[in-house]
Amino acid sequence: MATTVKTPVDEALALINESVRTLKAYHLTPEICGVKLNQNENPCDWDKGVKERAAAFFVERPWNRYPDFVPDALKSRLAAHIGVTPESVIVGNGSNEMLLVLMLSFAAKAKSVIICSPTFSVYRLLRDGMGMRPVDVSLTNDLRYDIPAVKKAAADNPGAMLIICSPNNPVGNTVDESGLRDILSVHTGVCVLDQAYVEFGGFNALGLINEHKNLIIARTFSKAMAAAGIRLGYMVGAPDVIAEINKIKLPYNINFFTEHAASTILDNVSMTQKSIEMIIGERERLYDYLKALPFDNVYPSAANFVLIRTKDKQKLFDHLKKCDILVRDVSSYRLLENCLRFSIGTPEENTLLLESLKSFFEPGLRRQK
Ligand SMILES: Cc1ncc(COP(=O)(O)O)c(C=O)c1O
Repeated sequence: MATTVKTPVDEALALINESVRTLKAYHLTPEICGVKLNQNENPCDWDKGVKERAAAFFVERPWNRYPDFVPDALKSRLAAHIGVTPESVIVGNGSNEMLLVLMLSFAAKAKSVIICSPTFSVYRLLRDGMGMRPVDVSLTNDLRYDIPAVKKAAADNPGAMLIICSPNNPVGNTVDESGLRDILSVHTGVCVLDQAYVEFGGFNALGLINEHKNLIIARTFSKAMAAAGIRLGYMVGAPDVIAEINKIKLPYNINFFTEHAASTILDNVSMTQKSIEMIIGERERLYDYLKALPFDNVYPSAANFVLIRTKDKQKLFDHLKKCDILVRDVSSYRLLENCLRFSIGTPEENTLLLESLKSFFEPGLRRQK
């Protein structure tokens, strides 16, 4: 009788890449509040009629058959929507998957990744998990992009991957056209510009794709398009570069639910325009109100969230939770000590946030008189 050789778990764990084992897991504690202002989602869901039209398709479509090998129809519609050619576009299971595909495509040659911190934490997760060399450039003390420092990092690390997020999560700051052009004038590696929030503000960099073949722009349906649940992200770049990247993307990464839901969304895109305008208006209303409260700082934002700083961060977070409002504690990020991020909700939700903030600060305000 053959003897079975058992592998103990510590031996199995020792087989995992060191770069993965040393990662701090990306984790979001599932907390439930009536008002959810913690994930920068669009607070307006799609209306039932639109969803029912998509659902009718799901009922008829055979589930035993694969989705399209390449979702060409969706890619063409998406390309037309943003004003580029279909060959410039690659689609994926959220822009997170697109970032992973980029790492797979460029890691061995780029070796290093330049990140401007604080920024979206998935960049660091992928960079460190892939074992790439970290190059961190800080934002300025007032949380803007430090263009000379980014240029220096680019010049010091020829061929590195550079990731810039604009508007930048969780701050809301942006890089403008002249800043980006300035960076691209010295950067020799691939430049990934994550524009997940661009529909809410900041400059749309798609026009630079033709000029700078090393520029790749990542976008998503998860924010302005009000479709975080369907998981659709995409990237835009020079067609020849996109064709190569496409080879490492897994086949059938877009399931037919996503594919069809995204097409339905594109049929009804005027509906998102209304919610985008509402969110921008509400962001300005919230910002003006927050500026009048005794925070240590309130940062200007071009996205669908606003970042504040207060020494009472924990008390405020807990107070808001008691008021049934969940916001994001981002105080563990570099430079963001005592910071909370408020996503923009519906006008009613934002009013509730403002009232809850007022009730938190009122005793303090009275003390100051
Ligand atoms: C800057 C940025 N990029 C990408 C993503 C991920 O988007 P997706 O839902 O398309 O994976 C997020 C999500 O919060 C984000 O803030």
